[in-house]
Amino acid sequence: MADIVSASEALEPALALLEAGDVVAIPTETVYGLAGDATNGQAVARIFEAKGRPRFNPLIAHVADMAMAERIAIFDPLSRRLAEAFWPGPLTLVLPLRKEASIHPLVSAGLDTVALRMPKGFGGELIRRLGRPLAAPSANSSGRISATTARAVADDLGRRIRLVVDGGATPVGLESTIVKAEQGGLRLLRPGGIAAADIEAVAGSGLLRGASGIQAPGMLASHYAPGAAMRLDAEKVEQGEALLAFGPTRAAGWQNAVAIKNLSERGDLTEAAANLFAFMQDLDRAGAAVIAVEPVPRDGLGEAINDRLARAAAPRDKPLAAS
Ligand code: TXA
Ligand code: MG
Repeated sequence: MADIVSASEALEPALALLEAGDVVAIPTETVYGLAGDATNGQAVARIFEAKGRPRFNPLIAHVADMAMAERIAIFDPLSRRLAEAFWPGPLTLVLPLRKEASIHPLVSAGLDTVALRMPKGFGGELIRRLGRPLAAPSANSSGRISATTARAVADDLGRRIRLVVDGGATPVGLESTIVKAEQGGLRLLRPGGIAAADIEAVAGSGLLRGASGIQAPGMLASHYAPGAAMRLDAEKVEQGEALLAFGPTRAAGWQNAVAIKNLSERGDLTEAAANLFAFMQDLDRAGAAVIAVEPVPRDGLGEAINDRLARAAAPRDKPLAAS
């Protein structure tokens, strides 16, 4: 079983494992990541092994500073502006990979682009000390909900890894927003922890949406699937269902629910994002066959929340155009 070690005491043991080509689960501001040295093919392979993830899905390379980022990828002026505005933070930029970069090809799945992010907190400190980028997908087995606590990581992956660094519940609670600069403008590849409107305000133009010609392969609709079926935009709760609520007023028949979790009593989307994955897991554990979900507004972080809910509700293993 993995050791769970408080972040204040975990820097040295985490470094030792990473230096040895092993993987470590670490907190970031978005969700927990399963980290390995991005320049070490064996370490990256261990990430895939521990997650049971299809190999063709590329990973995000996490960096400590701009100098490290520029050694890996080629920044256009707009991407650099976004990095300056939002890093460290929940923004991932997809950029052309430098030919001479030391990133192992398993990280980029052989693509000529690479996804880069500069995380806040423990992850940033760990990368600075290691002096090399960390490849880190969310620390959950493939197809499961992303973990937002050390306990959730240990319950899921504890038998397959040696160390979970405990930094408490992750403040954002949703994965990073992924954008890519293309000829025609900036494309939103995955809504996430920074609202699209905030990126548009810095970019000075709207984000392109929907599938582009080149997509990262292996993006499945049901990526965030809990065991229970999800019924979205529920106006009424049926007998025997669990209820994932939002805001101060309840759907009709809420008294029927076998379990209720409210993403945010006061209707706050930031609070709802932070609670989303943990509450989906809690309701799943309550054992209901169906989780009814009250409507969640689509503005701001509501876009990413609705994206994750739609994936959780999708028929299992159906390919989707974007992640
Ligand atoms: O917040 C986050 O982003 C978390 C924390 C741990 O940093 N990480 C995370 O990683 O969500 P992961 O592997 O679960 O999701 C990364 C996404 C995948 O959908 C992958 O297909 C996409 O990034 N991606 C990676 N490289 C790409 C590339 N070169 N082009 C397009 N998409 C890419
Ligand atoms: Mg993931």
